[in-house]
Amino acid sequence: MQVTAEPGLSLMEIIRENGIDELMALCGGCCSCATCHVLIAEDGFDQLPKMSADEDDLLDSSEHRTPVSRLSCQIAWSDELDGLTITIAPED
Ligand code: FES
Repeated sequence: MQVTAEPGLSLMEIIRENGIDELMALCGGCCSCATCHVLIAEDGFDQLPKMSADEDDLLDSSEHRTPVSRLSCQIAWSDELDGLTITIAPED
């Protein structure tokens, strides 16, 4: 599925606004639930803003963490990310 995105929104907000309910995002973007976990295609992963220590810690609580895991609420969208491919991580 391809979606359009407005700069300034988080990746989580973009996913939710496009009607993709599989992404729970229970805490609403406060970096406290990890239910917005996504896997980023490798060619786009390095373009993302750096991960905070809080995001890193929270991702550690996921059984499904991979080297390309991120919390989508912590990624502010920008036009440079155009074409990014993501997969919603399996639920923990
Ligand atoms: S929505 Fe809860 S950590 Fe991202």
